[in-house]
Amino acid sequence: MRHRRIVVSRYGGPDELRVVEEECPEPKPGEVRVRVLAAGVSLPDVMMREGIHPETPRLPFTPGWDLVGVVERLGDGVSGIEPGQTVAALPIFGAYAELVCLPQAKLVPVPAGLDPAEAVSLILNYVTAYQMLHRSAKVTRGQRVLIHGASGGVGTALLQLGRLAGLEMYGTCSSRGASTVSDLGGIPIDYKHQDFVEEIHRRTSDGVDVVFDGIGGTHIWRSRKALRPGGKVVAYGLTGSLREGRLASGRSGSRNRFGPIAIFLLYTAGGWLLPGRKRVVPYSIQWLERMKPSLFRQDLMALFDLLQQKKVKPLVARRFPFDEARQAQELLGKEGVVGKFVLVRDGNPQAAQPSREPYKTAQVPDTTALAP
Ligand SMILES: NC(=O)c1ccc[n+]([C@@H]2O[C@H](COP(=O)([O-])OP(=O)(O)OC[C@H]3O[C@@H](n4cnc5c(N)ncnc54)[C@H](OP(=O)(O)O)[C@@H]3O)[C@@H](O)[C@H]2O)c1
Repeated sequence: MRHRRIVVSRYGGPDELRVVEEECPEPKPGEVRVRVLAAGVSLPDVMMREGIHPETPRLPFTPGWDLVGVVERLGDGVSGIEPGQTVAALPIFGAYAELVCLPQAKLVPVPAGLDPAEAVSLILNYVTAYQMLHRSAKVTRGQRVLIHGASGGVGTALLQLGRLAGLEMYGTCSSRGASTVSDLGGIPIDYKHQDFVEEIHRRTSDGVDVVFDGIGGTHIWRSRKALRPGGKVVAYGLTGSLREGRLASGRSGSRNRFGPIAIFLLYTAGGWLLPGRKRVVPYSIQWLERMKPSLFRQDLMALFDLLQQKKVKPLVARRFPFDEARQAQELLGKEGVVGKFVLVRDGNPQAAQPSREPYKTAQVPDTTALAP
């Protein structure tokens, strides 16, 4: 039997994404073969394709940070999970494929009845947002926050979860995202025509408690200026290193993973050393998942619970067939997205198959604290 997957065999633009057909992968001992129903398309995928993301794998590789799929075949030694169950995972790369083999420990059960495209939107974007709010910034009701890129994937997740947590929210976005930001409870600031530092100080007396900065580089210093004393910048992205989905520096074509890490460390150290009791803390979903996998599982399950209760609603901007991954990344890079692009199998899958609560899971935290 054969399957298809998307392969990058040279770092560079969207044209480097090719569809290949090959023999189906067989699960090794401890692994599970999953038929992918939905895979997220995100800026970290684009950065890996360009070779700039800290997690960029060696060539050739299949992109795709997150997926929802159905268990199809079990490797030796796997128990407590059955073919037909719907699962979610954050493989970091590899999700743009019809079939993927993953260690059983990496799979999180998806509750019955969820739309795979909405469920997959929770994995990278909402876990990132949730952990930055509740584990990095440890926000409390009534605090004031500034969210950069507020109409994007992580930004809309921060707004929805921030509203549940009772925050006062400001969000930078371009004019086309302003109504989305307002609808989700934020006060939009048009970053293309307004200086966000001035705007924050004009609208608030002394600044904000937390800034979520996914833009990176010197932008982090400007974010720090929007803080009140004792405040925190949570630095988590490199959006500023791209222009229309290509490297802003123009130096595409190589694997450059360490430059971005060094820049983060520099800004984090600088944030501590400069006067003003203002800190810069880095956040990385993949490092937290590696160091504390039970927290990733627990937080994703809490988010599935919120989705089931209709307390969050991911904005799925468009569903693309798997073979159109190139077009999806090209559009994301050139025009951006309000919400999230998702690759889906068979056109437009809707509800996930019933899950039989497959295996023991970490306890889901009490989410009532997030209720409005
Ligand atoms: N550390 C982690 O664990 C982690 C996890 C997930 C994502 N990330 C990172 O988070 C960042 C955002 O990811 P995403 O998936 O949310 O991307 P996205 O959906 O493409 O959203 C990015 C948003 O940023 C806006 N933007 C671009 N330049 C801006 C600027 N100078 N000021 C304010 N907004 C600006 C864009 O708005 P317009 O298009 O309207 O200009 C867009 O809405 C990326 O850098 C990604 O790599 C990090």
